[in-house]
Amino acid sequence: MSIMVNYKDLGLVNSRELFKKAIAGGYAIPAFNFNNMEQMQAIISACVETKSPVILQVSSGARKYANQTLLRYMAQGAVEYAKELGYNIPIVLHLDHGDTFELCKSCIEYGFSSVMIDGSHHPYDKNIELTARVVEYAHKYDVTVEGELGILAGVEDDVKAESHTYTQPEEVEDFVKRTGVDSLAISIGTSHGAFKFKPGQKPQIRLDILAEIEKRIPGFPIVLHGSSSVPQDIVAEINKYGGKLKDSIGIPEDQLRAAAKSAVCKINIDSDGRLAMTAAIRKVLAEKPEEFDPRKYLGPARDKLKELYKHKIVNVLGSDNKA
Ligand code: G3H
Ligand code: 13P
Ligand code: ZN
Repeated sequence: MSIMVNYKDLGLVNSRELFKKAIAGGYAIPAFNFNNMEQMQAIISACVETKSPVILQVSSGARKYANQTLLRYMAQGAVEYAKELGYNIPIVLHLDHGDTFELCKSCIEYGFSSVMIDGSHHPYDKNIELTARVVEYAHKYDVTVEGELGILAGVEDDVKAESHTYTQPEEVEDFVKRTGVDSLAISIGTSHGAFKFKPGQKPQIRLDILAEIEKRIPGFPIVLHGSSSVPQDIVAEINKYGGKLKDSIGIPEDQLRAAAKSAVCKINIDSDGRLAMTAAIRKVLAEKPEEFDPRKYLGPARDKLKELYKHKIVNVLGSDNKA
């Protein structure tokens, strides 16, 4: 099937120019996951108010949840919504953790401007073969591709890894050359979800490995997954209003700030948004048990999300005023 809609017709952009500017400017573009209207509104309004470019990120699970056709129109709606709010920020629609060629192809046909092919759990040569195949297809439509080398601990969609397999710096040059990827996700101690470190463990990422990788591929766009910080005030609020989150620990924001100043030009944040929404919803439902209008709890959840995203943009990523 030939392409159904080109992302350019939806007003979206790919990530190429954004990454170039981000590396030169020492900041990172926010990649926020979304699957519903309130998240999309919070992301776009936070980015418009801070004048930040943004990557709207959709996992395969999120795509199934929201529906592929609705997502296409939501992304187009996001572009128009930003304009209506008063500032035409660059918006990328990106597939997060694509696991097959077919899924990447389908997303491109439905208007995605960027895809990730995550072959990190395959043997090295298979990862190269799969990634190169996606790149060859995607580049025909000027869609950018993110690959991954190294395995993050924790849960990566359906793929579970017990512990980190750090990216080996000696492999990166060969990988980017042979695949033709536009950006590379690496494993340096971040992980998905809200439980990134065990209690007593020092929450730390391997900025030394990042520096080693940068030396091998200077100026090449690097991506950090699993970069939620799991704000403890939000966790406390969830638990105060009936939640049961124990020992949830994230990546310290100052370490992400340091990474953003390097060739790391895309930082993925999903869990922190989930926590913020949950805290706000729990608070309303606990304080007003008689409430049953979804707008009365989804509205405050959206407000809290927006506040979180603005904080990330200004204090962690440094992407404010870069749109
Ligand atoms: O990397 C994983 C993202 O947080 C997406 O998670 O597969 O539950 O939508 P999900
Ligand atoms: P977090 O779970 O740390 O938010 O990571 C999200 C992510 O990497 C999406 O790909
Ligand atoms: Zn991820």
